[in-house]
Amino acid sequence: MAQTDANRWNDRYQEGSYLALREPRALLLEACDWLPAGGFALDLAMGLGYNAAFLTQRGFTVIGVDISFVALQKAKTFHPQILAVCADLEAFFLPANTFDVVLNFYFLQRSLWKEVRKWLKPHGLLIVETMTVEMKALKPEIDERYLLQPNELKETFADFEILLYREGWQDQNGERRRAVASLIARKPKVCT
Ligand SMILES: C[S@@+](CC[C@H](N)C(=O)[O-])C[C@H]1O[C@@H](n2cnc3c(N)ncnc32)[C@H](O)[C@@H]1O
Repeated sequence: MAQTDANRWNDRYQEGSYLALREPRALLLEACDWLPAGGFALDLAMGLGYNAAFLTQRGFTVIGVDISFVALQKAKTFHPQILAVCADLEAFFLPANTFDVVLNFYFLQRSLWKEVRKWLKPHGLLIVETMTVEMKALKPEIDERYLLQPNELKETFADFEILLYREGWQDQNGERRRAVASLIARKPKVCT
């Protein structure tokens, strides 16, 4: 299964058929005022590394994880300062209380959420954006398992300090129109 995913994504990146954004996501730019002044960051399912590179330029040491070595090779070519890890996030382990910032853009794996809670340091910043079930109106063929339910993201991190939350349609710089949920939230200083 993981090998199939890796092959599929490698092919997409190789052919250029995946229309990856070539600049940091707008939500990451919106998060600038809340970003700490450097530290350790983790980019889950990093892709071509534009978000990770943005954080390295702001003084972060960034680990970017992705199952596609083609994406990671391209990321490293343009952004050698990123620490790229080729791994399947279905089976991935990191120590607790390690990251000041965690990015999770356009990759929905619900089992990661409890890990993300652990991996973030107290007061660490979580930035997530991915598609919601509203996408079915535009693309009925998308498997609903990979789409967020209304308010799901906000409710999942209800114990965090929610700095920004919204759901709706967006177009970003020529990418296809998408229904997304966006979250910027801070892990509590003391986690129960
Ligand atoms: C839609 S792209 C998003 C890339 C990037 N986060 C962005 O915002 O442009 C999804 C990414 O998830 C990666 N991916 C898919 N399954 C994965 C898995 N099981 N473990 C790690 N990465 C995975 C793909 O290789 C791809 O780069």
